[in-house]
Amino acid sequence: MIAMNYRGPFRVRTDRNKPEPRIEHPNDAIVRVIRSCICGSDLHLYHGLVPDTRPGSTFGHEFIGEVIEVGGSVVKLKPGDHVLVPFNIACGTCSFCKQQLFGNCHESNPEATAVGGIFGYSHTAGGFDGGQAEYVRVPFADVGPEIIPSGMDPDDAVLLTDVVPTGYQAAEMGSIKKGDTVVIFGAGPIGIMAAKCSWLFGAGRVIVIDHLEYRLDFVRNYAQCEAYNFRSIGDPVLFLKKATDFYGADVCIDAVGCEAAGSALQTITGRKMLLQAGSATALHWAINSVKKGGILSIVGVYGPTGNLIPIGNVVNKGITIRANQASVKRLLPKLIDHVQSGRIDPKAIITHRIPLEEVADAYHIFSAKRDYCIKPILIPPSARA
Ligand SMILES: NC(=O)c1ccc[n+]([C@@H]2O[C@H](COP(=O)([O-])OP(=O)(O)OC[C@H]3O[C@@H](n4cnc5c(N)ncnc54)[C@H](O)[C@@H]3O)[C@@H](O)[C@H]2O)c1
Ligand SMILES: [Zn+2]
Ligand SMILES: [Zn+2]
Repeated sequence: MIAMNYRGPFRVRTDRNKPEPRIEHPNDAIVRVIRSCICGSDLHLYHGLVPDTRPGSTFGHEFIGEVIEVGGSVVKLKPGDHVLVPFNIACGTCSFCKQQLFGNCHESNPEATAVGGIFGYSHTAGGFDGGQAEYVRVPFADVGPEIIPSGMDPDDAVLLTDVVPTGYQAAEMGSIKKGDTVVIFGAGPIGIMAAKCSWLFGAGRVIVIDHLEYRLDFVRNYAQCEAYNFRSIGDPVLFLKKATDFYGADVCIDAVGCEAAGSALQTITGRKMLLQAGSATALHWAINSVKKGGILSIVGVYGPTGNLIPIGNVVNKGITIRANQASVKRLLPKLIDHVQSGRIDPKAIITHRIPLEEVADAYHIFSAKRDYCIKPILIPPSARA
């Protein structure tokens, strides 16, 4: 089959002869992919920042498709069903899944000290092949996959596998109260969706920070919020203090993660010399921009170690930090309703529709933020007919 093939940092190619996945366990399903996305999280893999990312792996944790085969114990799905598949692989029965912490499943990843299994996200997250391919094996098929409601646009459905739940959970973890000022770092797909969802929780003011003008323009229109370029406001922390009567934001959301721009020192030590797991500039700014007693919600992805994080300010300001991978399955019923009622319009963020065979170009465009790219989706040949 045709599949994305990781060769090493900044090298991705189209494999035309990858063996098709087969049922390996009675609760597996095989899904023919109809749409898959490239995510900001895939860029951390593509840039070589995630440990144990092995050449030959196929990325892709955001995908929808048609079930073509199921294992002997699968009862919920049958061939022909169209499903959206949460990016987390969850067993549904361990103590973490029982608490609806589907991103922290204890059974789906042999390395389960922190994260559970994730499709196409290195051997650190279980070593599963992902959906940037024609076919994908879906373990625990009775747990994660959700039948796509009839009439739902596939472009909306594929964004329910990660982007919408992650943006929503970012806002939810902020425990936003009516009238709160919410500052979001990052105007990528996740920051854009977090801005949109912050209003659903009653925010009174939503401010987004980034340095890509085209994304700032987009989020201003899409989420009806304020948006500022950190390269033109001086010290972003001081700017945000001034904008909030010197109190700071009630809630800050980090939707950037470990590849933040904005500090030469962080970029050199974290991204060039790899003396820490990436650059934590947005996290640094978020800690310093939130008010005393405020809440910091982190959905940006980080590796295990980070330097230059002002932990003393977290303690002395009494900040509550909440963070996790999104628990997609927990949120889906509510978010499907938001999409069907028109309160969230996910597909509006899709800027690029690229044939799966051109996956290397797609990574290049998205990584370099070229051509006004916000969210690229990959379409396999069988879904283009
Ligand atoms: N927790 C989860 O479940 C989950 C799910 C999906 C994505 N993520 C993570 O969320 C983050 C964002 O994902 P995305 O798809 O939107 O990625 P993206 O790369 O498209 O967007 C990141 C944005 O951050 C901006 N940025 C860089 N430095 C900044 C700074 N110092 N301050 C403010 N903005 C800055 C970039 O210009 C870019 O627009 C990534 O770290 C990704 O791994 C987490
Ligand atoms: Zn993703
Ligand atoms: Zn589990």
